[in-house]
Amino acid sequence: MGREYPAQYSKTSRLNDGTEIFLRPIKPTDDSLLVEMFNGLSKKTIQLRFFSTLKYMPKEQLERFTRVDYEKQMAIVALVREGEREWMVAVGRYTLDEKEEGAAEFAIVVQDAYQGRGIGTEVLWHLAHVAKLQNVRVIIGYIMDENTRMFAVLKRSGLTMTRRHWDRGITRVDIPIDENVQIQ
Ligand SMILES: CC(C)(COP(=O)(O)OP(=O)(O)OC[C@H]1O[C@@H](n2cnc3c(N)ncnc32)[C@H](O)[C@@H]1OP(=O)(O)O)[C@@H](O)C(=O)NCCC(=O)NCCS
Repeated sequence: MGREYPAQYSKTSRLNDGTEIFLRPIKPTDDSLLVEMFNGLSKKTIQLRFFSTLKYMPKEQLERFTRVDYEKQMAIVALVREGEREWMVAVGRYTLDEKEEGAAEFAIVVQDAYQGRGIGTEVLWHLAHVAKLQNVRVIIGYIMDENTRMFAVLKRSGLTMTRRHWDRGITRVDIPIDENVQIQ
């Protein structure tokens, strides 16, 4: 059953600055945390992630984002506890390509106030790890050429990948999972 919640893909990580983050697959009940995170994103971050200038998240998209068939897609959220409550600070997701077996398109977004602290790199690695366990062969990202921070994350991640020009202003990055992720 693709919709069964894969709780085993949850883990706690510590950033270099000591902050603890909790990574886990998204759940349907994450609606309000996700909307809250989305509403806190800058225009630039929205543009780099969605390639458009979405002002709010339409209900239908919200449902699609939170109600995931985990066999076909994955969405890993990063949560940080501040005082009494948790905040969603990042989401990394991949969606399997229906035409190309074992290939999935991925994207990551980190809330502006939390960028540059290592969260994007953590989410990328965890997503790649989960992809391996789900028998995904390659994750593919389409990245705006101006997105120096994402290219820096890819470089610092140490993951091997191929890069090629895709469309005007867009680079396609293919990350082969077997080459990069070993499961003991
Ligand atoms: C691109 C994006 C996902 C990267 O996430 P991030 O959390 O900012 O990335 P990281 O913090 O892991 O790495 C970025 C920076 O932090 C630094 N960093 C990396 N690991 C670190 C660590 N453990 N501790 C401290 N800093 C670290 C890196 O040096 C890098 O610095 P630089 O930008 O000065 O080169 C995020 O900036 C974002 O959401 N951007 C908008 C949406 C987007 O572009 N998505 C990509 C489409 S696929």
